[in-house]
Formats: sequence, structure tokens, C-alpha cells
Amino acid sequence: MDKGLDGVVAAVTNLSQVDGEAGRLIVRGHDIEELAAGYDFADMAALLWDGLVPGDQDSGEIRRALGLARLRAAEKLPHLLPAAEGLTAIEGLRAGLAMLADDDCDHLLLCAAVPVFTAALWRQAQGKGPLAPDPAKGQAEDFLAMLNDGAADQAAARALETYLVTVADHGLNASTFTARVVASTRAGIVSAVVGALCALKGPLHGGAPGPVLDMLDEIGDLDGVEPWLERQFAAGERLMGFGHRVYRTRDPRADVLKGVVANLRGGQNRIELAEAVEAAILAQLAARYPDRRLDTNVEFYTALALEAAGLPRELFTLAFAMGRVLGWTAHIFEQEQSGRIIRPASRYTGPVPKGETLAAVAG
Ligand code: ACO
Repeated sequence: MDKGLDGVVAAVTNLSQVDGEAGRLIVRGHDIEELAAGYDFADMAALLWDGLVPGDQDSGEIRRALGLARLRAAEKLPHLLPAAEGLTAIEGLRAGLAMLADDDCDHLLLCAAVPVFTAALWRQAQGKGPLAPDPAKGQAEDFLAMLNDGAADQAAARALETYLVTVADHGLNASTFTARVVASTRAGIVSAVVGALCALKGPLHGGAPGPVLDMLDEIGDLDGVEPWLERQFAAGERLMGFGHRVYRTRDPRADVLKGVVANLRGGQNRIELAEAVEAAILAQLAARYPDRRLDTNVEFYTALALEAAGLPRELFTLAFAMGRVLGWTAHIFEQEQSGRIIRPASRYTGPVPKGETLAAVAG
């Protein structure tokens, strides 16, 4: 038994395929590079939900429905915002999604609630009131406008849209697996998405990109790289943005997002230090783990892309949720169709009743 269920197949899916050896991600028949170049959030929703949602909609209909769903999500803010006082942004989002009623919520409202709640929670933390969504805008542009006093830089909106597409689905990652486990009990889509968000929050999964920026800040300049690395390894710390359970080569999403950063104003300046840090870290990881290839994962350049798009680092994990909620909802529908509760086994190693042996009790 592997403690991390490494290599265990726990679901059959039509949604995405991660090839860890080749460094390739295919979502419903398309390479991620192709999707990142041409799709927006609504296109990606249409692709992922196709055939899984009753009353299938094309991407134009989904774009309009998402706009209206953002208005519905904003109606929930008077209940959420007072309850979220004093919470961090991710805790606030967790609370907000948990407050959605099962009989009044669908996949569209969940996908709309993430950007609407995130923007409002951030504004509340800055002492500002929420701004109303504009249903005519795209998902990323409207989020940036709600966040930034009504103004959304077009290049930043395009970059964020590309980011949302790039991270929308990725096989049976920890949060998606959680969503499928909860969905398999028939607890409903809200509970399954809340469970998924809880799994995403951890620094070994979606909580990594904020600390990537902290790392670059602490390193400061090229001379700071090696001493910082020595200190991290001496303290036994993991390096955020590196290593992956499945990839034994570079995560293909890292280069997609590096391209996003390069196209944004100010992004190029950050890339120079980031590339030097990346090269030094990869050399150190290769020397320390010669038998286990540890390479750059999606979170390293996510941090730079979201920073260049103007997001505060406290919102990076919430931005990840904004994209990944598409994959979660698609997997929830798929799991619900399969109909069987996910209930694996465990091996007992605890005490046994007097006079009995562990081998006899636990087999
Ligand atoms: N920094 C330092 N050492 C590392 C790192 C890292 N980033 N990643 C793995 N290692 C070490 C492990 O400690 C382990 O060493 P040990 O055998 O001495 O304990 C060894 O490399 C092998 O680890 P793996 O089996 O490859 O790691 P695992 O599959 O268990 O974990 C994970 C994968 C959680 C992503 C890990 O690489 C990590 O913690 N990375 C840093 C956090 C991060 O970037 N998370 C985002 C991942 S991408 C995503 O979820 C969207």
C-alpha cells in the first residue's frame, strides 16, 4: 500500500488525461496549449460540461448564464459579508460557498459565486463595500472590475482568462478526488465543491503560489538565491512550486503561464529573477534527489502570472478555485452518473482483544 495512493486508479473519466512522463495534459481531446491559446472560461465550461449537464448549453449561452448567475451570487453577499468579518479570504470563500442552499444552487451559481465572493471579501478587508457584477462582461474581466473599483485592464483580463482555462481540470488531483468522494455519497454539488475547496487550500496543493512570491521576495536578487536555498534545505522545508505527484518532467502548464507573464506589463522583470531561482532550485533538487525527478510545477509561474494580472497574493488560491471549480463540477456530474459510493479499505494495525493476534483479527 502507498500512503499517497500513488498510481492507484480510483475513477474512470472522460474529462482529462495527465501524462506525467511526457509532460502532457489533454482535456477532452485537446492539448492544454491549444485550449490556453483559444478558449475562454465559458468555452472551457461548455467543453467540460458537455453531455454531463441536463439541457446542454453552448459557450455563448453559458457566457450569458454565468453573467446572470453572478448577479444571483451577489444577492448572497449581505448574508456572507458580516459572517466573514475577521476571516482570511480563503476562509471567507469557504464560508460563503458553505452558506449556499442545496435546493437553490446549481453549477452555474457555484462558478459565479467564486469570483463574486472573492472580490467582495477582498474589498471588505480593505474597508470597501462590494461592487455589483456586470453580466455583460466575461468571467475574468468582471472579477477584476469588481475587485479594482470597477476598472479592468484588458490585458490583465485576457491573462486571467487564460489562467482559468489552464487550471480548469487536471485528472484526479487531491481536490477533484475529494469532490468525487463527497459526490459519491449523494451529498450534493455544494457539499462536494466545499470539500474540494478545503483540499485545495493546503500548501501542498493550491496554497503554494502565494508562498512562491514570498520566496522570491525573501531571495531578493540573484546573489540571494544560493544562501536562501541552503537555509531552506537545512530547515527541511519544501520548495513551493516544485515537485509533482504525477509529472516526472516539467508541468506543461508552467510554460503556458510563463508565456502569460511575459506578455504582461512588468512581467518580464519578474521573469529574470524567477528563471534564475528556478534553475538554481532544479539543480539543487536534482543533486539531492537523483532518483526522483522533481521539476517545476504549475504554481511557480502561476504566482508570477497572477501577480502580473494585479491580484494580491492572498487571493491566489481563490483564483485557482475560480478556474478549478469547472473541473470539480464536471467531475461531480460524472461521479453522480457512476452511482457507486467511493469507499476504500484500510489495514488495521491497532491493539487486538486479549488472547487474539493481529494476523487473526486483521487478516
Ligand atoms: N521541495 C523539496 N523537496 C521536495 C519537494 C519540494 N518541492 N517535492 C518533493 N520533495 C521531496 C520529498 O520531501 C520527498 O523526499 P523524502 O523522500 O526525503 O521525504 C521526495 O522529494 C519525493 O517526493 P515525491 O514523492 O515526489 O512527492 P509527493 O508526490 O509526495 O508530493 C508534492 C508532491 C506535494 C507536490 C510535493 O512535490 C511538494 O510538496 N511540492 C511543494 C508544494 C507545491 O508546489 N505544491 C503544488 C503542487 S501542484 C498542484 O497541486 C496544483
